[in-house]
Amino acid sequence: MTIKHYLQFSDFSLSEYEYLIERARIIKQKFKNYEPYHPLQDRTLVMVFEKSSTRTRLSFEAGMHQLGGTAIYLNTRDSQLGRGEPIEDAAQVMSRMSDIIMVRTFGHDIIERFAACSRVPVINGLTNEHHPCQVFADVFTFIEHRGSIQGKTVTWIGDANNMLYSWLQAAEVFDFHVNVSTPKGYDIDFKLVSPDHSHFTRFDNPADACEGAHLVTTDVWTSMGFEEENAARKKAFANWNVDSDKMRRAASDALFMHCLPAHRGEEVTAEVIDGPQSVVWDEAENRLHVQKALLEYLV
Ligand code: CP
Repeated sequence: MTIKHYLQFSDFSLSEYEYLIERARIIKQKFKNYEPYHPLQDRTLVMVFEKSSTRTRLSFEAGMHQLGGTAIYLNTRDSQLGRGEPIEDAAQVMSRMSDIIMVRTFGHDIIERFAACSRVPVINGLTNEHHPCQVFADVFTFIEHRGSIQGKTVTWIGDANNMLYSWLQAAEVFDFHVNVSTPKGYDIDFKLVSPDHSHFTRFDNPADACEGAHLVTTDVWTSMGFEEENAARKKAFANWNVDSDKMRRAASDALFMHCLPAHRGEEVTAEVIDGPQSVVWDEAENRLHVQKALLEYLV
């Protein structure tokens, strides 16, 4: 039997996303109404974190509990993960004791090797190259606020990271356009994008990339806790902050998103992230609802 995994955004078709979005809407409404909904009773999610997390852990753990199941958290400090056991062996063992596994790790090849040896579905909770759960929540949030994302323009300001690569895949699935502006030296790695480049346009000037956009989004320049090591990055990124001037270049009803955590005063000004166009709290909350739909679907 072929096992369905969710390792990158392009793993699902448009019709699967349409189904999941409808399920996420229903599940969110049940949550808001305090209506018990336990389709995953007696089911177990194992969460493997080789990198730290707040939102991903919380949304998967809370989501699994709310669906009636159990979530088990494993990290590299309190387990033997990352201490020499082959990833293939870890996948065999974990997947014989659980119904679904979420993995946050470094290289995408690691999660692919893990999934190849897993007897249960594997969800990508972030790799260096992809962050599909976050971009799924972002697309859901845009659709909640604006009805449809098809034909819209999303502007990405910042380095070419896992969020951007998932946005570029989402643009192909949902048929929207991404304006991309990355600082010099932090450009797109074309090995990580499909050969069809018709869904994105590159801009040298980040303000020009915001022209007419329906959504402007960015990410941290330096990972939380590693700020000092990354002083050179901050210098290179100085003009790639999202401020009110750039938001004025976007459509008058443009939204602002940030997957969080954020550094106010670096990649985004406080005025923008705390302003009326920002939907970052809805975006963070929607991780919970879309992932519950995902867990229900895959289990
Ligand atoms: N946005 C996101 O994935 O947050 P965490 O790193 O806190 O999980």
